[in-house]
Amino acid sequence: MTTSGSQRAEARPLYAAVEIVNDLPPADLYDLCDAADAAIDAGGGFGWVTPPAREVLEKYWRGVMVVPERHLLIARVDGVVCGAVQLVEPNRNNEAQAAIAQILAHFVAPWARGQGAGRKLMETAEKLAAEMGYKVLHLDVRATQTAAVSLYEKLGYNRWGTNPTYAMVDGHFISGHFYGKTIRPLFVPKKVQP
Ligand SMILES: CC(C)(COP(=O)(O)OP(=O)(O)OC[C@H]1O[C@@H](n2cnc3c(N)ncnc32)[C@H](O)[C@@H]1OP(=O)(O)O)[C@@H](O)C(=O)NCCC(=O)NCCS
Repeated sequence: MTTSGSQRAEARPLYAAVEIVNDLPPADLYDLCDAADAAIDAGGGFGWVTPPAREVLEKYWRGVMVVPERHLLIARVDGVVCGAVQLVEPNRNNEAQAAIAQILAHFVAPWARGQGAGRKLMETAEKLAAEMGYKVLHLDVRATQTAAVSLYEKLGYNRWGTNPTYAMVDGHFISGHFYGKTIRPLFVPKKVQP
């Protein structure tokens, strides 16, 4: 018995790729909005509870591109933009937190989940942060986002606190977890005996 082309295509493992982007061509912006829309519809987890109008989403992503402290990483599965994460640098005046960057708005569209895109986005953001000289990453997540919580803990993020009034969804407070991870241990030079 032969296998039809479409059956073969279904059996082919999908390939997740991640890139750091400095601009979003219209097709990628369109797919990113689609992905964000679908992820928000499926339970969100990165601020929005209900999908905003398309113009609002487009404006949001264009805004991300022009904020110097924000670095956008996008994931593609089979060439289609399916998710993103942002690495956010501290404000230049925040001397005390100059070694700490933030992970924000991490999501993958439901159709592309389970293909490694979510993990690859986080690992690439960590590499970028380390290359930029950051030593610690902070992130926070609604406690109800169980897939994300599981991924962050697998990646070695330490939960240091939980805020019971972190977010409000459908008129109810939802708690949120706060995490930190040291990505570049401090180098302590050995004392040399004279
Ligand atoms: C969290 C999220 C980004 C993961 O994306 P993904 O592409 O499915 O993740 P991956 O395929 O790379 O899987 C990563 C790991 O998460 C774990 N994971 C994925 N889905 C899971 C689930 N439903 N329950 C438990 N663990 C899960 C997998 O075991 C996997 O572990 P492994 O890499 O050791 O095999 C995705 O589920 C999502 O967009 N969630 C909604 C948005 C959100 O909660 N964002 C976080 C706060 S901003």
